[in-house]
Amino acid sequence: AFVVTESCIACKYTDCVSVCPMECFFEGPNFMVINPDECIDCSICVGQCPVGAIVEASEIAPDQAHFVQLNRDLSHDPRWKRITQAKPPLPEHEVWAAAKNKLHLLKQ
Ligand code: SF4
Ligand code: F3S
Repeated sequence: AFVVTESCIACKYTDCVSVCPMECFFEGPNFMVINPDECIDCSICVGQCPVGAIVEASEIAPDQAHFVQLNRDLSHDPRWKRITQAKPPLPEHEVWAAAKNKLHLLKQ
């Protein structure tokens, strides 16, 4: 399955959700995740993300490996809701788009 990684945090552009044929994106306050049980590995979403946050789980960088389990867990969290239509990015997306080590910013 494909996985949303750290670059998405505090940006949440949402371009990804409008192209997913399985509608398997789930939204939290400042991050997005993919439900790995529903993703069909089509890869269409990858090129839509302006910050390159979406990768295939088997090709994930070692420093992002924890996002595999995080996508699984948060996509099943009742507080995180399915989202199928794009909307404006978070207000400070330009500030955070190029930032690294944003995991501490993640709101659940
Ligand atoms: Fe949806 Fe395809 Fe992306 Fe999986 S790879 S999240 S099915 S668009
Ligand atoms: Fe996040 Fe990229 Fe989608 S920033 S919301 S994974 S388009």
